Formats: sequence, C-alpha cells, structure tokens
Amino acid sequence: MPSQEKILHINGLKTYFPVRKGLLRTVAAHVKAVDGVDLEIYRGETLGLVGESGCGKTTLGKSIIQLVGAVGGQILYHEGEQTFDLLNLSPEEFKHIRQKIQIVFQDPHSSLNPAFTVFGSLQDPLKLYGVKTKAERRKIIGDLLEAVNMRREQMDNYPHEFSGGQRQRIGIARALCVNPEIVICDEAVSALDVSIQAQVLQLLQEIKEARGLTYIFITHDLSVVEYISDRVAVMYLGKIVELAESEALYRTPRHPYTQALLSAIPIADLDRKSDRIVLEGDVPNPVSPPSGCAFHPRCPKFKSLSEPEKQRCMGESPQLSDATQLTQPHLVSCHYPN
Ligand SMILES: Nc1ncnc2c1ncn2[C@@H]1O[C@H](COP(=O)(O)OP(=O)(O)OP(=O)(O)O)[C@@H](O)[C@H]1O
Ligand SMILES: [Mg+2]
Repeated sequence: MPSQEKILHINGLKTYFPVRKGLLRTVAAHVKAVDGVDLEIYRGETLGLVGESGCGKTTLGKSIIQLVGAVGGQILYHEGEQTFDLLNLSPEEFKHIRQKIQIVFQDPHSSLNPAFTVFGSLQDPLKLYGVKTKAERRKIIGDLLEAVNMRREQMDNYPHEFSGGQRQRIGIARALCVNPEIVICDEAVSALDVSIQAQVLQLLQEIKEARGLTYIFITHDLSVVEYISDRVAVMYLGKIVELAESEALYRTPRHPYTQALLSAIPIADLDRKSDRIVLEGDVPNPVSPPSGCAFHPRCPKFKSLSEPEKQRCMGESPQLSDATQLTQPHLVSCHYPN
C-alpha cells in the first residue's frame, strides 16, 4: 500500500532541447519537452503517467534519472532523514542516486548488449556497487532471474536466444539488481503482445509488493495503466493537466483532454460508456506552444464556450489546482473543467 511519505518531490521542472540552425549551428529555439512540471510521488505507490506521443513523458522520466539535464526547477529525493537535490548532486551522491532510481525502457532489443551474455550485462552494475566476487555476482543474478520467472542457468545465454517477453524480464532484472527504491517503467510492456503484457504486468506487481518499490509507469496506453496505478497523471505538451487517484480519473475525468483520451479506449464497462471524442489535429509543436491554455486549439469544449470564456482560454494559462474539495485531491488545469 502506498504511504503518505513523499519519496520524490518535483517542482517547476523544465527540460528544454536546443534547436540548432544554419552553418554555425546557432541555437534558434528550444523544444519545451517538459515545461513546468510539479509532481509529488509517495513511497510505495504506482504513479501512471499518460499522454499522447511527444507530450514529454520519456523526457520527464529521463530528467528524473539525470539522463537528460533539466534547465530549471527542482527534484528532491527523500531517503529517511536525508534529502537529495537531484539537480545539484556531488559525484558521490550521484552514484548513490543512480542505484536508488532505475529505469526500464520499452525496447528490450536495444537495451541489452548483443555481445554480452545476461551475466555479462548484469554484472557491471553489481561490480560498480561493490559486489566483489564472481561467485556472489552469479548468485545475485541467478536469484534475480528466478524472481522474474526465468531459470538461473539462462544467465549464460545471449540476448538473441530469448523471446521479447523474456528480454523484457531480463531488463527488469537488470533494473532490480542494485536494489532500487524507485523504478521508472517507460513503455515497459508496450512492445509485447497482449498475453505476454499481462504476464509482465503481473510480475511487476509481484516484485513491487515483495520489495516495497515505488513505480512511475509511463505509457500511452490508458487501458494498461488503470489497473496497476494508484494515481494517474495526464501530460499534454510538457505539462501535467490532470492528476488524481486512478479510480476517480477514469470514472470522472475533469479535463477535456483526459476525457477525449479515455473515450478512445474500447471498454466493456457499461456504466462508463461514453461517445468517442475525436481530437482534431496533432499535438502542436512544443517549440512554440499555443498561447493561454495550450490545449485550446484542439479542445472539444472550447467551441461551445462563450466569447469571453474563449478569450480567457486563449490568453491565460490555467494552473493545476484542486477544485473538487474531495478527501483525495483531484487536480486539473482547465478554466472550465467538467
Ligand atoms: N534529445 C532530444 N533532442 C531534441 N528534442 C527531443 C529530444 N528528446 C525528445 N525531444 C522532443 O521532446 C518532445 C517530447 O518527447 P518525449 O520523448 O519525451 O515524448 P513522449 O511523451 O515520451 O512520446 P512517446 O509516447 O512517443 O514516447 C518531443 O517533441 C520530442 O521530439
Ligand atoms: Mg516516450
């Protein structure tokens, strides 16, 4: 069960990528991939992070583990009495944090080195974190393989000798080998077919319970995230536009964007049947997002608003806030939520 103890506190996080032009490769603009994200993550929870392709989910995950550098804001990691400021770590602290926060990527083909056996790929992080003898490393890796429902002796096989589902399980074992506290799963099951997806999700759930982990589960597939997440955050153009407990978000989405995303999932639940809302156009270019509420040009609700209301959506950027006053916060950034 998730606790009320914060493990990660993200404040106004911005990650921009420079767009270079011309012979001199001067910076002409910036892709605002993550543009002011505030997010608190509680120890032991699974936080689902969803949104259309290109809205900044992976960049947010990579910013947390410092694979890309943020340009502004703050990420605080709490461990017991200690707090680490992830954007200002000493080399010592950096090594410690790399152990505590791990990421599992989508593509198991590219995340395992084809030239190494499983043992070869998994032993490096163990060496780095001080597991000195080969026998100890073999024992730990064997145990991990068993934890992801594989056989110990498979550590001597190469990546091409495994199926996609097995490779993804090896990817999970690798993330777990240094005993992390937080695991970021970035589309970790998206490349797998549906039956294998269910197995890997089940496995992730069991591992989480056994080890008391905290997950950030990134996916564009809203039907996957509902069942495994305690809370869900919806991203649009680098910002979080809605954040609530999973049940509340799926039952009563408040942002027109979330509503449109949910209306696109085929559901068997008759209570929840809603008409499909088709979003027009693509996600706008994050180099120059629309003014005011960045979603207004595609917003299905915008058309039915009065002229002064439209002016507000076009001119004023909405803040992520709680308007429901329920026991559990349901945050939404929309001037006219449902
Ligand atoms: N290294 C980079 N350099 C320049 N732009 C980048 C880089 N990485 C990501 N972007 C841009 O940042 C934006 C967000 O990308 P990101 O990969 O975070 O999206 P995403 O939500 O994970 O999408 P998907 O669901 O397709 O994985 C996109 O516009 C993308 O083109
Ligand atoms: Mg991504």
